[in-house]
Amino acid sequence: MNELQSQGHAINRVSFFREAAPYIHSHRGKTFVVAFAGEVIASPKFPQIMQDLAIISSLGARLILVHGTRPQIDERLHNTNTPVQIHNGIRVTDLPTLLAAQEAIGFLRIRIENQLTHILNQPSISSHGLGIISGNFITARPMGIHDGVDYRFTGLIRRINHGLIQQQLDANHIVLLSPMGYSPTGEAYNLRYEHVAIVAAKALTADKLIFLSYQPLNMPRKLTLDEAQTYDHEFMLPALEALDDGVDRVHLIDAEMDGALLLEMYTRDGVGTMISEDKFEQLRSANVEDISSILNLIRPLENKGTLVKRSREHLEIEIHNFHVITRDDQVIACAALYNTDDDQVSELACFVVHPQYRGSQRGDKLLDHITQLAHQQGKTKLVALTTHTTDWFRERGFIKGSIEDLPPNKKSLYNYQRNSQVLFKQITE
Ligand SMILES: CC(C)(COP(=O)(O)OP(=O)(O)OC[C@H]1O[C@@H](n2cnc3c(N)ncnc32)[C@H](O)[C@@H]1OP(=O)(O)O)[C@@H](O)C(=O)NCCC(=O)NCCS
Repeated sequence: MNELQSQGHAINRVSFFREAAPYIHSHRGKTFVVAFAGEVIASPKFPQIMQDLAIISSLGARLILVHGTRPQIDERLHNTNTPVQIHNGIRVTDLPTLLAAQEAIGFLRIRIENQLTHILNQPSISSHGLGIISGNFITARPMGIHDGVDYRFTGLIRRINHGLIQQQLDANHIVLLSPMGYSPTGEAYNLRYEHVAIVAAKALTADKLIFLSYQPLNMPRKLTLDEAQTYDHEFMLPALEALDDGVDRVHLIDAEMDGALLLEMYTRDGVGTMISEDKFEQLRSANVEDISSILNLIRPLENKGTLVKRSREHLEIEIHNFHVITRDDQVIACAALYNTDDDQVSELACFVVHPQYRGSQRGDKLLDHITQLAHQQGKTKLVALTTHTTDWFRERGFIKGSIEDLPPNKKSLYNYQRNSQVLFKQITE
């Protein structure tokens, strides 16, 4: 590697770290349920996924892992020439199948616990005192007879002992849940791991439910509940079910991609698909009806000198440059995108989130939107002029520039009294 390449690598690492820093901070103490199929455990990528989960846990996130077992049960049934019985997509669990499920779960649990214990004891992570706990957290009942088919030991979840799980999370442990539940009468029931993950996410009011997929995703990075209904993917039904049950955000991530979990959690763009309900809030282009609400938002910052003053008339003329996040028709964030006389460069300006709504990455969402728009318009750079927010922008990939680097029209209008910092961001895919 020559000196220039190694400098390039160092800059990449620094910009990754800057980008990750706000997410590391905001994910600390948050609860994430991560569900993965038996196919993922069988993949050669699995040890790396365990390593990434250990890192996420050591950064302070509370993790509940839920594993599947289907291929491992099928393999055992195949080895003993026991037929696999599926009705309406649901396994019928007779006694030999229940035994195969118990064996498969025992085997997989020990494998996961072993791998994680090994990783959690590595010197870089062991100082956090993290452990892995699995146990009898789920009470189940039989699914019963449907269309004349008795599903025998296939079960449904009655309740999940979330208090006990919380205690484990409070003690810094990662909790591992298997798709098996127990009835008060001493029976064991085979469960769908996707359902265990949904019920756990709901009971623990998890901040995110993450499904690691072993099928390619080929979906946009962000989907609303309505948009998601139009996609066909193995995890789409469980994802919609989870959102319906009140889980805020579901992420689908390609398990085969190296580091996908870390990139999804700690970079702005992520690499998977995030599905959220977005009931009240909308990000859209502004129109004349928004002007009063935008003025209410920006006036206090204009008065403090953070933003340059804009008259109502000025805003009326420029309203097509504005983009807003609204909540119940009130503008709670705005940003403007202007062309400059350099056809490669757009200016980001008047960028505000209402103080009451800060701290939930709305600024990031708006910045992503503006960046995408500029990219669609064929621009390669964004420029922002700021007196108060330099670090916020730098943490998001903006780099300090000089007045000389400004497009000519911005240079001639530069206000030396304000002495704003000039910041550029390279726009990439
Ligand atoms: C910049 C802004 C839009 C971001 O809104 P947001 O997405 O809700 O993000 P937050 O305000 O919660 O800030 C996220 C993080 O950046 C930090 N941050 C906020 N403003 C900052 C600033 N001016 N300088 C450095 N860091 C800042 C916050 O402390 C927070 O860090 P934390 O998570 O460690 O506490 C919002 O803070 C804002 O409206 N600021 C005032 C207007 C402004 O300065 N606009 C830029 C002029 S172009």
